[in-house]
Amino acid sequence: MRFPDPRALLATLLVLAAPAAWGGAEQVRAGILAELRERYPALSPADMAAGAAAFDAARLAQAQARQPAPGAAEAIAAGKRIWTHRFAKGRSLAGCFPNGGRRIAAAYPQYDRRVKRVVTLETAINQCLKTYGQPLLDPADPATMGAVLAYLRSLSEGQKVAIRVAGAAAEARFEDGRRLYFTRLGQRNYACASCHLRHAGSYFGDAALPPPVGSAVSWPWLREGHPVSLQVRIRECLERMGAAPFPAGSEELAQLEYFLAYLSNGLPLRPGAWRPADGPHM
Ligand code: HEC
Repeated sequence: MRFPDPRALLATLLVLAAPAAWGGAEQVRAGILAELRERYPALSPADMAAGAAAFDAARLAQAQARQPAPGAAEAIAAGKRIWTHRFAKGRSLAGCFPNGGRRIAAAYPQYDRRVKRVVTLETAINQCLKTYGQPLLDPADPATMGAVLAYLRSLSEGQKVAIRVAGAAAEARFEDGRRLYFTRLGQRNYACASCHLRHAGSYFGDAALPPPVGSAVSWPWLREGHPVSLQVRIRECLERMGAAPFPAGSEELAQLEYFLAYLSNGLPLRPGAWRPADGPHM
């Protein structure tokens, strides 16, 4: 299946199947897993974590030849420096998190009852900096936030993704994320789901479209040596959809990430995977 022409894609998508009736996060996840399993019975959720490479043997070989990905060690080292840098009164980012941040990443994003928001790793990091009067990190900057995420997530390598959606308020935020994922946005009238769910595995330009399951496992991805976070990737897709991307660090991105991360529950974290530079997809 190939549809390199965006107009052809649009035509096939004029009737985007209505998302399943709302029945809670676990039901949504089961429905999406079942849909993908039916279409790709040979692919497990763990296979899908390879992204486009799950459908593309040549890409898979390229990725496997680039383990660890070029730039990953440098990003992790740079992130560790920022993480352990002591600011006022001997404080550091490391001191804000249990165990210096070891084995915490697989539980993010999480719904925080106190602030009634979805808290991503980026939000938690900036909250710590704010508490100690430090300048915040730009969630879209690979050299600072990207590097910190590369380090912090490396401390959870192999831990299973364990996103909790417990209670009505958390379910409501998950539902916000799900709804955004299925809503057509932008000039080209695509929803995330148009590409990543309905056409998962089809080629769009020269890339197979990665499914939503597994997409929270291997970020930050290394692209041309630079770490790319899940939020940054989502913003790139929004731009390609002809939509104004939600601001870095926004609640919308956090909700989308909450939804996507929940779909990866149970899969081991493998941060720092290689991804190629993006071609002209649209
Ligand atoms: C028109 C098709 C299209 C739409 C719509 C789209 N994307 Fe993408 N997305 C892509 C392509 C193409 C890639 C890159 C595949 C590659 O080459 O690795 C990608 C990559 C991704 C990845 C990285 C997956 C991985 O493991 O590498 C995530 C996460 C993602 N998109 C999320 C989203 C979200 C969330 C939305 C909605 C806001 C969205 N996308 C909308 C086409 C699309």
